[in-house]
Amino acid sequence: MKNIWIIANWKSNKTISEALDWIAKVGPKLPKEGPPAGGLKVVVCPTFSCLSEVAKAVKVGNFPIMVGSQDLSPYDSGAYTGEEVASLLKELVGLSILGHSERRQNFSETDEMISKKVEQAKANSIIPLVCVQGEETPVPTDCKIIAYEPIWAISTGLTNTPGAGKADTPESANEVVKVFKQKYGDDLLVIYGGSVTSANVKGFINQSDISGVLVGNASLDAEEFLNIIKALER
Ligand code: PGA
Repeated sequence: MKNIWIIANWKSNKTISEALDWIAKVGPKLPKEGPPAGGLKVVVCPTFSCLSEVAKAVKVGNFPIMVGSQDLSPYDSGAYTGEEVASLLKELVGLSILGHSERRQNFSETDEMISKKVEQAKANSIIPLVCVQGEETPVPTDCKIIAYEPIWAISTGLTNTPGAGKADTPESANEVVKVFKQKYGDDLLVIYGGSVTSANVKGFINQSDISGVLVGNASLDAEEFLNIIKALER
């Protein structure tokens, strides 16, 4: 059975109590076994300020959720004021989203910096999930899972307003995913991101080469997130 990754990217949203409320609502309702649970990988990526509380709540509840970060430093620990380093984050997270288009655009992240972040993640047993915006975006060595997220498909678009973007079609996304697999090997897992909701998720998951989805805006609401999971069962 193919693994299906459903990854919630909360971006810069939610207080600690809002984050804990989401975990309390979603955690107990996630399927623990039986299809699609056997191959279902649910990951939640909160802000850094919520990470330790969220990780604790997931552990205490024994919920089938992996906690992830939305970024990490290209450096190891040391004199880097403000940076969140992989060697410390590894206590809390199993995965890190790297090279999101919002970081490339707003914080001038380069492919070179992203490669260094991948190295840091790998050295600390954190799965690096690199976001690629199009066929031309390079995939760093040792990166085994990427998210194809065309910038124009992100729901907040360039105006930061929910609903501004428009999802790619599952068929067109699958074609781009195939290009990445041809270039980097069939064992590269590729998920899709950009305006995924409970209404369109099944179309992406049903594609031959798409292994999951990265969900921004629609992941913020616990009910909608659970509907995304439920949609997979139908
Ligand atoms: P969206 O965001 O689901 O709100 O389009 C996805 C992302 O930016 O990762």
